[in-house]
Amino acid sequence: MAGLKYLSGFGNELTSEDPRCPGALPEGQNNPQVCPYGLYAEQLSGSAFTCPRSSNKRSWLYRILPSVRHKPFTAMKCEDLTESWNEVDPDPNQLRWLPFTIPKAAEKKVCFVAGLHTLCGAGDSKSRNGIAIHVYSCNTSMTDSCFQNSDGDFLVVPQQGEILITTEFGKMMVEPNEICVIQQGMRFSVDVFGETRGYILEVYGAHFELPDLGPIGANGLANPRDFLAPVAWYEDRTVNGYTIVNKYQGKLFSCQQDFSPFNVVAWHGNYTPYKYNLENFMVINCVAFDHADPSIFTVLTAKSTRPGVAIADFVIFPPRWGVADHTFRPPYYHRNCMSEFMGLIKGHYEAKEEGFQPGGGSLHSIMTPHGPDGDCFEKNSTSVLTPERVAEGTMAFMFESSFSMAVTKWGLQTCQRLDKSYYKCWESLKSHFNPNWKPTSK
Ligand SMILES: [Fe+2]
Repeated sequence: MAGLKYLSGFGNELTSEDPRCPGALPEGQNNPQVCPYGLYAEQLSGSAFTCPRSSNKRSWLYRILPSVRHKPFTAMKCEDLTESWNEVDPDPNQLRWLPFTIPKAAEKKVCFVAGLHTLCGAGDSKSRNGIAIHVYSCNTSMTDSCFQNSDGDFLVVPQQGEILITTEFGKMMVEPNEICVIQQGMRFSVDVFGETRGYILEVYGAHFELPDLGPIGANGLANPRDFLAPVAWYEDRTVNGYTIVNKYQGKLFSCQQDFSPFNVVAWHGNYTPYKYNLENFMVINCVAFDHADPSIFTVLTAKSTRPGVAIADFVIFPPRWGVADHTFRPPYYHRNCMSEFMGLIKGHYEAKEEGFQPGGGSLHSIMTPHGPDGDCFEKNSTSVLTPERVAEGTMAFMFESSFSMAVTKWGLQTCQRLDKSYYKCWESLKSHFNPNWKPTSK
């Protein structure tokens, strides 16, 4: 959307005023007896009050009416959004989904909230430890309604169709190949412009942060200045029945109020929604031989309390050069103590040129074997190793989690997109073992 402005920086203390109300931010204090323009001050806490300063998150919102002025919440139907991880029996197989279906507007109007489908997950929002992976597919903008996730943070990966997200902090347009994070408790509404689909990584009890860079140094991977937060924007609008939808302990509740919640005239703090363009990711890669592990492609991580073990990492496989000598260059064959969900925003993924399609997905669960398919192995075992562009025009990503995720009934049955022939892509792998083989020099 032309004209949208953003503030840059990851996790900084930011300040923003709607330009229509200069001076709306109180000077020198957070909570004056009377706020400029007659606004209410309201704090949104994203961490315990006493968290160390490095992880302490909160923002102050200066709004026309406070959030508390609403009618009581009542339960609403959840459709395919769930936190029930025992709906169906566990399945340790490699799982792959064809592109998830987007409803046709002519047949059924579906907004972002109604179009949320939980694919897999683990843990518990009540004990504040866990993860869920959702797919959204919709065709209609939200009208006089907004969504609030009380359970955790949403990392949203649009795959088809840009989405205009109006938040309490301002507006963000997010296109495929960009991501955004709407943190716990932040209210937002989604406008769409046609058939729209994407992926959501939800984490309970942790916020996303930039990974530590270790020996890489001060620069590289995702740079803090490329993360953008919205500029304050408000509407002073009376509405006959504005609906607030609240995801709370895995269930949906709604309440009514008579005004738009996007009534924040100014805000300051370090707890905001933000977006990031994946094109800005500075790729680190092998320049000699063998592989670095895919953790070199980590954009954001939600850390667990165990050092180096993530609740979930968001990892991308961007266009880059492949130059490794005497190396099988595609991803290695693998069994992992972590769960790996992969999605494809566009193009073809290098380890599986067929079958893994944009808008689909795959799940390789804990210790489930996976790796390049038969064609990929044969091609890359005999190809001449010149420098080559890898993943040109493509953006695959991975949600990697230390949780052993359960797949929902929707994921295994109702969505009807499970590719039951997935295992066949490895059936052509044959033995090349030769007991008479003699070593040659490299
Ligand atoms: Fe893997």
